[in-house]
Amino acid sequence: MANEAPFDDMFIWYEELYPSVDSSKAYSEYCKRVHGEDLSQQNFCTIDQIDFMLSEINLSADSQVLDIGCGTGKLAEYISNISKATVYGFDYSPTAIRLASERTYSKRDKLIFENGDINDKEYPPDTFDAIISVDSLYFANDLENAITKMYSWLHLKGMLAFYYSVMRFDRKESKDIMSSKKTPLAKALINAGIAYSVFDFTKECYEHQKLKRKTALDLKNDFKEEGTIFLFDYLFRESISEDMSFEDYKEFCARFLYICRKT
Ligand SMILES: C[S@@+](CC[C@H](N)C(=O)[O-])C[C@H]1O[C@@H](n2cnc3c(N)ncnc32)[C@H](O)[C@@H]1O
Repeated sequence: MANEAPFDDMFIWYEELYPSVDSSKAYSEYCKRVHGEDLSQQNFCTIDQIDFMLSEINLSADSQVLDIGCGTGKLAEYISNISKATVYGFDYSPTAIRLASERTYSKRDKLIFENGDINDKEYPPDTFDAIISVDSLYFANDLENAITKMYSWLHLKGMLAFYYSVMRFDRKESKDIMSSKKTPLAKALINAGIAYSVFDFTKECYEHQKLKRKTALDLKNDFKEEGTIFLFDYLFRESISEDMSFEDYKEFCARFLYICRKT
């Protein structure tokens, strides 16, 4: 959709979400308490998990990195700040990209943001040293096709790194998809002939989602007072009860970091 916006519900949701998230003091405080740093996250990672991913992909000041589904670009900026790499980011929300570009204008030699859809974005082959995506691959209509293209954009020895969760809402559905080797992403990687290593973050995600519930409740009045109670509602929905056992959680959720090196 390079130039054409898809006005579906999800698109409208993100368009409305990003300006509020960007200016909300309560959301900023929430991110600090839950993620360990305010990067306006829409994800399920602590900053330690981001640092772990970065330690796996080993960036330098010469690296060219792409963040797919970059939102307002604060993760891209964090990565560039600590590694000195040049980081590109694209997202299908024009509002998120505008906020990212405006905020980082003085760093525009190192941070490049553009509007784009994961389903039809194109880059020349052999462009990036690393491509990351945190909780955004869900929006690919054809995962195998999307990651095959991403792989082609990598330099030789370039790396892919994806934080990715699977949810099994229907208990009658097979538990197979919760296994790291059988998630839709693992299947797409296998079908595309891309070797991967995988790290299981299910337990960490369980703790994270419980902390999301507690922190959202602790900050509920702050959201109310600044007129952003819809942010509280959203954060509450993506959290779990502090009483839920890990055994129960594992029945419907699993989370992984997939790492691939182009050979
Ligand atoms: C769950 S959020 C994750 C954002 C960010 N990676 C983070 O970690 O905070 C998913 C992001 O994907 C973007 N998105 C949704 N559909 C997309 C698509 N078809 N192409 C590109 N980006 C998309 C949304 O606008 C949103 O910024």
